[in-house]
Amino acid sequence: MAKKKTALFECQHCGFTSPKWMGKCPNCGTWDSLVELTEQQQEVVKLTTSPSGRSSKAQLITEIDEELVQRYSSNDVELDLVLGGGIVPGSLTLIGGSPGVGKSTLLLKVGANIAQTGRKVLYITGEESEGQVKLRADRLGSVVDLLYLVSETRLEQVLIELEHRSYDFLIVDSIQTLYSENITSAPGSVTQVRQITFELMRIAKERGIAIFIIGHITKEGSIAGPRVLEHMVDAVLYFEGDSSQELRILRGFKNRFGATSEIGVFEMRAEGLISAKDISSRFFNRNKSQPGSALTVVMEGSRPIILEVQALVSETQAPNPKRQATGFDNNRLNMLLALLERKLEIPLTHYDVFINITGGIKITETAADLAVLAAIISSFRDRVISKETVFIGEVSLVGDIREVFQLDQRLREAKLQKITKALIAKKPLDTHKMKCYEIDEVTKLIEWF
Ligand SMILES: Nc1ncnc2c1ncn2[C@@H]1O[C@H](COP(=O)(O)OP(=O)(O)O)[C@@H](O)[C@H]1O
Ligand SMILES: [Mg+2]
Repeated sequence: MAKKKTALFECQHCGFTSPKWMGKCPNCGTWDSLVELTEQQQEVVKLTTSPSGRSSKAQLITEIDEELVQRYSSNDVELDLVLGGGIVPGSLTLIGGSPGVGKSTLLLKVGANIAQTGRKVLYITGEESEGQVKLRADRLGSVVDLLYLVSETRLEQVLIELEHRSYDFLIVDSIQTLYSENITSAPGSVTQVRQITFELMRIAKERGIAIFIIGHITKEGSIAGPRVLEHMVDAVLYFEGDSSQELRILRGFKNRFGATSEIGVFEMRAEGLISAKDISSRFFNRNKSQPGSALTVVMEGSRPIILEVQALVSETQAPNPKRQATGFDNNRLNMLLALLERKLEIPLTHYDVFINITGGIKITETAADLAVLAAIISSFRDRVISKETVFIGEVSLVGDIREVFQLDQRLREAKLQKITKALIAKKPLDTHKMKCYEIDEVTKLIEWF
């Protein structure tokens, strides 16, 4: 007796699946986005949503062999750092970033670097012609032996090319332009993206090819296509930065083969992206002192970076004043503003407050709290804070200033950058010849203005 066919529908917007067709996706609310999957596509959904398709017999942990991760260098210090040491053969890495940030530029250079180590590299572009890519390669100094280019959007043709030559490294620019002729949904749709990523993953594992996939980012900041894409790949990196400025940050978001704490910093030049040297001093302007600006030192992985927090506090008649942070957590900003009102009696209810972190960096730790408060007070009172001072401290809900980890490294870096004073929760034994001022409560901050 033939197996009874079960139907499965998938939302092409968010990847939600349902055994019944529906006019509106209950998960994301998009109308008319559910399409029926073929049996083969259903299989892929099953394989990519269940944790493992392998046998589930338990083994004693003492008897399991460790998986040794072999890596090779990408020939780029910053990329190696973000990847946790280098490129892992057979791994699938997704690089996300907004248009124009430099994803194609970065990966073309990476491809050329790897080709120079004697490995065969294939760059698949669905966005540009071979000639356009060649033009860029000329500019970047990336015209090297063993780097192959193909302008192709059909997955089936890519598979034929992979049969043709034994590549070690593959770049897909971008996942949203590649499509399979066997799938009826549009290129870039959930079903396409999932199926193609699945196919690429199979090839990567089977042949030990390392594959880098470029993914565009939606307005909301996530990689276009289903979340499942992020679950399927081994590593997810985001390429960030303000395209009007030259600094770019490559940040690990997920990595099955290493930590995600390190960032890579690049500089966009006419000749391409180069590793930024002396990154610590690149994110602040030492010479210009204006009200609303305060310096802090944050840790990006193992590296301390001096950042400038800018605040703009301006009077408003609107019933709901604006509170907006770029590069800093909005909820945290609201908490700090509440503290200012409560503890320092600074009446901000009739003021808009904007916070910006220079250089396109996103602060992910609380050590910058004190600097954010200082910048806000500085803007509110229209008093300049000297660029000789850094503010390092976490602010608690009750208004205490807390110590932060790796203070020693932060102070050492500040000293190197010729900063002379630090406002911190507790004076350390070694002050690195900085003038350290203890400040254990937010109420004491006001004495500085
Ligand atoms: N001829 C050029 N000289 C200098 N910079 C360029 C040139 N062409 C492009 N760029 C820079 O490269 C960026 C585009 O990078 P690209 O790698 O195509 O981005 P993405 O692939 O992320 O969309 C542009 O924002 C621009 O700043
Ligand atoms: Mg591109």
